Amino acid sequence: MRWPANITIKEVGPRDGLQNEKVFISTEDKIAWINQLSSSGLKTIEITSFVNPKWIPALSDAVAVATGIERQPGVTYAALVPNGRGLERAFAADIDEAAVFMSASETHNRKNINKSIQDTFPVLKELVQQTLAAGKSSRGYVSTVFGCPYEGRVELDSVIRVSETLFEMGIGELSLGDTIGVANPRQVEEVLQVLLKRFPAEKLAMHFHDTRGTALANILVSMELGITTFDSSVGGLGGCPYAPGASGNVATDDLLYMLHGMGIYTGVDQEKIFAASQYIQEKVGKPLPSKSFQAASSQSGCKLENT
Ligand code: HMG
Ligand code: MG
Repeated sequence: MRWPANITIKEVGPRDGLQNEKVFISTEDKIAWINQLSSSGLKTIEITSFVNPKWIPALSDAVAVATGIERQPGVTYAALVPNGRGLERAFAADIDEAAVFMSASETHNRKNINKSIQDTFPVLKELVQQTLAAGKSSRGYVSTVFGCPYEGRVELDSVIRVSETLFEMGIGELSLGDTIGVANPRQVEEVLQVLLKRFPAEKLAMHFHDTRGTALANILVSMELGITTFDSSVGGLGGCPYAPGASGNVATDDLLYMLHGMGIYTGVDQEKIFAASQYIQEKVGKPLPSKSFQAASSQSGCKLENT
C-alpha cells in the first residue's frame, strides 16, 4: 500500500488558528465553535494555550474557554503550555493533554519563548514530568524544522537534538513544525528519512503551514513515508505571531477533501467542518484561506464530498 488506510487529524484551529488573529473572538463564540468541532468526529482538538496573556492576548481567556466547553467522551482536549505558571492554569482547567513547544533554531526560540534552546530544556522537562505524573498526556512540538524566519536554513542536527531531548523527557508524540510554510516535498522526504531512522512513524506528527501552497504536497510525501498524524486548522486559519510572514496551517477542509477523495478514512465529518469554517469565517470577518471551503461556499447546493 502506497498510502495509509487511516489518518488521524489533530485540529489546532482554536489555538494556532486564533493566536494570531487581530479580532478578539469572544469566549462565548470560541466555546460554541469548539463545541461544533467536538461533534465532527475529530478525536483531538487543541483548544487554546496557557501562555503569557501579554504575549498572546487572543487566547487570554484560556481557562474560561477550557472550563466552558462541553467535553465529548473520546475527544482529547489539548493545549500549549510554556512554563510552570501555564501548567498550573492548564491543570486548573483540567486539560487532557499539555503540549510543550520549542524551536530547532536559536533565534526563533528566543523570540517565541524568551529563552535559549539550552535554557528551555530543563523547563520543558519539568513540565513533561508533572504532566505525566498528573495522569495527562504530553505532546511536544519542534518549530522551524524546515526553515527559520530569522536564520533561514536550519541544521538537521539541531532538529535531531531537540527531538531526541523532547522524547527523552517522555513526550508521547512529537509534532514537526514547518512554522513558516517553506518546506517542499523533496525536503520533507530528506528530513523524514533521517528522523525515521531514529523515531517510529507512529510517534511523529507533521504540522505544515500553507504559506506557499506546498502543505498538501508535503502531507502526501509524509504519508508515503508512513506518517499517519497531521495537524490542521479549520478553514486554514492561523500563523505564529513570532514568525513574520507565517500564514495559516494547512486547512482541515482541504486535507479532508484530499484524503476522503483518495478513500482514506479520517472519521471526520466534512459537512460539520464546513459548518465550523462558515461559523468562524463570520466571526473573524474575512475570507478563510481554505480553497475547498471557498469552492464549496461559492457552489451552494454542490456536493461537498468528491467521491
Ligand atoms: P516571559 O514574559 O519571559 O515570562 O514569558 P516571565 O517568566 O518573565 O513572566 C513575566 C510575567 O508573565 C509574570 O507576571 C508571570 O507570572 C506572567 P508578573 O510577575 O510580571 O505579574 N506569566 C504568565 N501568566 C500566565 N500564564 C503563563 C505565564 N507565564 C508568565 N503561562 C513565556 C515567557 C514563555 C511565557 C512567553 O514567552 C510566552 O508566553 N510565549 C508564548 C508565545 C506563543 O504562544 N507563541 C505561539 C505558539 S508556538 C507556535 O505557534 C508554533 C507551533 O504552532 C508549531 C509550528 O508551527 O512550528 C506550536
Ligand atoms: Mg503552528
